[in-house]
Amino acid sequence: MNPSPGPDLDGLTLREKVELGSGADFWSTKAIGGVPSLVLTDGPHGVRRQTGPSDHLGIAESRPATCFPPAVGLAQSWDPDLVERVGTALGREARALGVDVLLGPGVNIKRDPRGGRNFEYYSEDPHLTGALAGAWVSGIQSTGVGASLKHLAANNAEHDRMRSSSNIDPRTLREIYLRAFQKVVRTSAPWTVMCSYNRINGVYASENHWLLTTVLRHEWGFDGVVVSDWGAVQDRAAAVAAGLDLVMPGDGGASDAALAAEVENDAGQIQNVHTAAVRVAALAEKARRAPGGETAYDVETHHALAREAAARCVVLLKNDDRTLPLSPGGSLAVIGAFAQTPRYQGGGSSHVNPTRVDVPLEEIRALAGSGTVSFAPGFCIDGEQDPTALREEAVATAAAAETAVLFLGLDARQESEGFDRTDIELPAEQLDLLAAVARVQPRVVVVLSHGGVLRLAPVADLAPAVVDGALLGQAAGGAIADVLFGRVNPSGRLGETVPVRLQDTPAYLSFPGENSQVYYGEGLHVGYRWYDAREMEVTFPFGHGLSYTDFTYSGLELSQGPEGITARVTVTNTGDRAGREVVQFYVAKPDSAVTRPSRELKGFTSLTLDPGRSRQVQVLLPREDLAYWEVRGDRWVVEDGEYRVWAGASSRDLRATATVVVEGDRLRLPLTLDSTLGEVMADPRAAELLAKHFAVPEAADGSEETMGIDMARMMASIPLRRLVSFGQGDLASIEALIAHLNQEE
Ligand code: BGC
Repeated sequence: MNPSPGPDLDGLTLREKVELGSGADFWSTKAIGGVPSLVLTDGPHGVRRQTGPSDHLGIAESRPATCFPPAVGLAQSWDPDLVERVGTALGREARALGVDVLLGPGVNIKRDPRGGRNFEYYSEDPHLTGALAGAWVSGIQSTGVGASLKHLAANNAEHDRMRSSSNIDPRTLREIYLRAFQKVVRTSAPWTVMCSYNRINGVYASENHWLLTTVLRHEWGFDGVVVSDWGAVQDRAAAVAAGLDLVMPGDGGASDAALAAEVENDAGQIQNVHTAAVRVAALAEKARRAPGGETAYDVETHHALAREAAARCVVLLKNDDRTLPLSPGGSLAVIGAFAQTPRYQGGGSSHVNPTRVDVPLEEIRALAGSGTVSFAPGFCIDGEQDPTALREEAVATAAAAETAVLFLGLDARQESEGFDRTDIELPAEQLDLLAAVARVQPRVVVVLSHGGVLRLAPVADLAPAVVDGALLGQAAGGAIADVLFGRVNPSGRLGETVPVRLQDTPAYLSFPGENSQVYYGEGLHVGYRWYDAREMEVTFPFGHGLSYTDFTYSGLELSQGPEGITARVTVTNTGDRAGREVVQFYVAKPDSAVTRPSRELKGFTSLTLDPGRSRQVQVLLPREDLAYWEVRGDRWVVEDGEYRVWAGASSRDLRATATVVVEGDRLRLPLTLDSTLGEVMADPRAAELLAKHFAVPEAADGSEETMGIDMARMMASIPLRRLVSFGQGDLASIEALIAHLNQEE
């Protein structure tokens, strides 16, 4: 595929073209000939623009920028329109800070809740991930700033991330780990894609021709720049040959000199260097042509958007006896160090220097009206104070109030880019605090802040109300206060299952691998696909989230067309306040010829309804999303026949179901000597021909059964070539028959 047109590079020497393919410094590319320099920087949930010392670990200073909810929080909105608005705001800030490409979104699938970087990724589900990340890319790129879809591919653990090999079977790779990348490339055309550090089935992503060229460019049609993750290239010549265009960060020119010398007599590599340089030049040209004008953004407007977004991302996990919303005017005990020092983003390269930070305690006080709000830290984040004294003070504070709101969660040191967690527990000290408070105060609301999934069974057992904030960005405090007091009716939904215990999780025994090898043995059954297939209890299912009102679903209708399945369902707000409902559509192929998850998310939408009102929603479940990856033909196949669709409020709260017949793709795999009798018999015409050629043993009574045994099933696994061993013809006649059958249409 030809790259997009860019400046003419004919006047450049080989060395200059090589130089275009690597950074000038940590964050920018080189200006060479007529090609201007570009600035690429993190990302994704805020602009990390370093103008002094630079690093990829979020350590050195960066210019202030709005810290929007990180992907873990943003995903809980299930709202592509909102995500697109956030992307647009990020684009404006990037432009104001002189950034051409923002390094995001991260669309790796959360294979295991221990993954250290799960806070920077959207979901355990590729459909949700692809839909939201695509909206993010469209938003940012609408401002003339490029996105960098990362990390391609299968970077699902931090442990040993620069060496380890993610060993994944082809179907799982395609259907789970590449699907969101494919969707975003096709729907939103990101300007750049970032390859990951790790290897995929033994080959480094940066040197993986199959991944970077065959799949990304030839199959998906990507025509932008493939940039390396920072420091992901160890053999630049191999990377150039694989289709990598830009090595970051710059190394002072050392690898330019080496590469130019290495390729000077290799026509193929000279062409690869040229192609990469053309792509980098085209990217620079795109950035140069970005609409001019706005060089500043309004900090307050963006903070307000951050608050609106954060509030939409809050998930109400539990609300017994309508403990929430709180009424202003009562007496409230706010407990927990995170109420004063909020945890709102993750550590590492995505770390943003916020323009300001809302403090939950202050925001609660601002909305509490004439009520009293007392505070006790309950525990200390750095572990330097006596936990017993802190707990006793908190218990007394909680006992004296009408309601206690406990801010619990993980501290920045407990989860970050660069390492994985070893458990999914809240600190024991916090669970002890909750138990002690619950003994004196029945009205307990727990507010959670964390980047990775937590074991919540003990929290759900003790607290009548649980609010999940995940990580919500700099306006978390205000957003949580809005939800607690009902100024915002919560509508967020989980992007990940909350398992009963770590031991239940799909990759429990194979995460994070050893000796730099990770075997993805659970295959397709990641996240809810695993718990559903095994019919396991979970604490909170994928897609779960409550509202202060209630909704019912009725009249699910399905129709099939060339674009896919159109699903319509009517939703009614049966409660007493306006609210937003996220309607999820799960699909199964009950009699599939291949292993399939019990059901998979294939579409979702949301609507806001006043009390007593109903509306029908309509969603297209795209035909391509119904397909499975057929390993024998190396292609996507939509199976023929009946599909079951559910409309639901979570993967476990399925409210309406119906079936529809879909006309599938024609899949005709050529027969070989190793094809089995069963495979031949599956095609009635082939079966007839085969029967004519070979004697099929008959039961004495002429039926197809002998001694109650189905002969066809018994013989189904015999490969055609083995018929010779049973005295059924010779190889030549079998080969002739195969040739004949393969010619038949
Ligand atoms: C991370 C990337 C990031 C880059 C630049 C790497 O360590 O994996 O996500 O964009 O650093 O900071």
